[in-house]
Amino acid sequence: MNHQKIVVLDFGSQYTQVIARRIRECSVYSEILPFDTSASSLKKMGVCGIILSGGPASVLSKGSPRPDPKIFTLGVPVLGICYGLQLMGKMLGGKVVSSARREYGLGKLSFSKNSSRLLAGLDSPQQVWNSHGDKIEKLPDGFKAVGTTENSDFAVVEDTKRNFYGMQFHPEVVHTPRGMDIIRNFLRNICGCTGDWTMANYIDRAVEEIRAKVGDKKVILGLSGGVDSSVAAALIHKAVGDQLTCVFVDNGLLRKDERVHVENLFKNNFKMRMKTVRAEKLFLSKLSGVTNPERKRKIIGKTFIEVFDKAVKSIGQVDFLAQGTLYPDVIESVPIKGNPASLIKSHHNVGGLPKKMKLKLLEPLRELFKDEVRALGKELGLSKEVLWRHPFPGPGLGVRVVGDITKKRLDILREADAVLMEEMRSSGLYYNVWQAFAVFLPVKTVGVMGDERTYDNVIALRIVESQDAMTADWANIPHAVLAKISNRIINEVKGVNRVCLDISSKPPATIEWE
Ligand code: XMP
Repeated sequence: MNHQKIVVLDFGSQYTQVIARRIRECSVYSEILPFDTSASSLKKMGVCGIILSGGPASVLSKGSPRPDPKIFTLGVPVLGICYGLQLMGKMLGGKVVSSARREYGLGKLSFSKNSSRLLAGLDSPQQVWNSHGDKIEKLPDGFKAVGTTENSDFAVVEDTKRNFYGMQFHPEVVHTPRGMDIIRNFLRNICGCTGDWTMANYIDRAVEEIRAKVGDKKVILGLSGGVDSSVAAALIHKAVGDQLTCVFVDNGLLRKDERVHVENLFKNNFKMRMKTVRAEKLFLSKLSGVTNPERKRKIIGKTFIEVFDKAVKSIGQVDFLAQGTLYPDVIESVPIKGNPASLIKSHHNVGGLPKKMKLKLLEPLRELFKDEVRALGKELGLSKEVLWRHPFPGPGLGVRVVGDITKKRLDILREADAVLMEEMRSSGLYYNVWQAFAVFLPVKTVGVMGDERTYDNVIALRIVESQDAMTADWANIPHAVLAKISNRIINEVKGVNRVCLDISSKPPATIEWE
């Protein structure tokens, strides 16, 4: 697409994606590319600026990752952050030494007002977040230091003639409160970006692109009711209307009333062509007697593909398969030694549908981060309930009934989960947590109800806070709310006489029970 572009070369920092997102938040398009991307391909892309990310390596060690030296001859502004700054120091003729003391944590940045292009508009001092071992001892020719911290004389450096800039700290993290202003100064004042990346613009361009690509052919999309597939459906529908058919598979592992909600929204409200396949019986018969979590997942995944494939065939000639793939799933990165972030890859992407379907892929959200997908969905008229709903795993309640999955257990779980959702919403806590859900446990315990002893099922409540699901902590929910949830489940859901609260963090526990 035709918009101004900033490239972030990735040297393996855990914050690389955060840098790219901050740039987008300034309405400038950003892309993350491997650190060794050639200068000629950057030139061909017409980049307005290059950012060298931080990274775990030391520029002093042999074999540490280096960019193509020609990036410094493109005439494009370059900003080095942390490791990126040391790289510039080293590669442009300065001197980098390993610091006796690793500077980690909060620092105080001092500078004289209006003496720096990066720090324009900011008052000294500013709080900044540091995390680095090496430091620059002598600047390359042409550079001058414009900001210092307690531990570094070269915390912010500039060569305004060649348009090279660097900073020792991380402007992209929240612990550098004015970091966004520094990034914006680089983008707007130094790279000359005008801020042409907005979701309203994106819709127009994406609609044109989808139309050009699809022509008069048909598109199918597997709708789950989740944020990504819902937004992809709304966008493609805007572009090609009835050429799109959404396929919704009711696998019997959905939450209470979920199929009806999805049908109401897409069929009745958006007037989309939608095919619902009711395959509860098939899924439950294949799952019958299976207790191993990995086996359950495999069966659910395989059955989904079979059912979906059959539904597609019944639609007739289809050329495109649409998917709600997001940018974080497609970022190409080169593994960097010692970089934990490169190991943590989402293990949940099922890998899409079979190649044998021979469909061309249509992935209109491939360039977007999750927060942009939500902004796009809002522009397209999707509600907060859809755009901010909690994540729901592909295998659905299949990973929330521990042990044998039966219709009866699923029904009990659905009712308990519905009570939990109602109370999370009415207490105003739903949007404060990452996820809240109920889990069915395959144990029966004794209780008393009225004068009778009961021997019934246990429901566990899992309510967690998290940023990205990689780590999570159990949420602090007021006792009164928990009490109401527990009372209501035990009184209203037949077959449950005990409710427990899961107070484990991830790691070592996971969010789902499986
Ligand atoms: P765990 O249980 O690994 O879950 O801590 C992390 C996050 O991923 C969600 N999850 C899934 N999402 N397909 C998905 O799309 C899946 O198979 C799947 N399994 C777990 C889980 O709900 C949590 O948000």
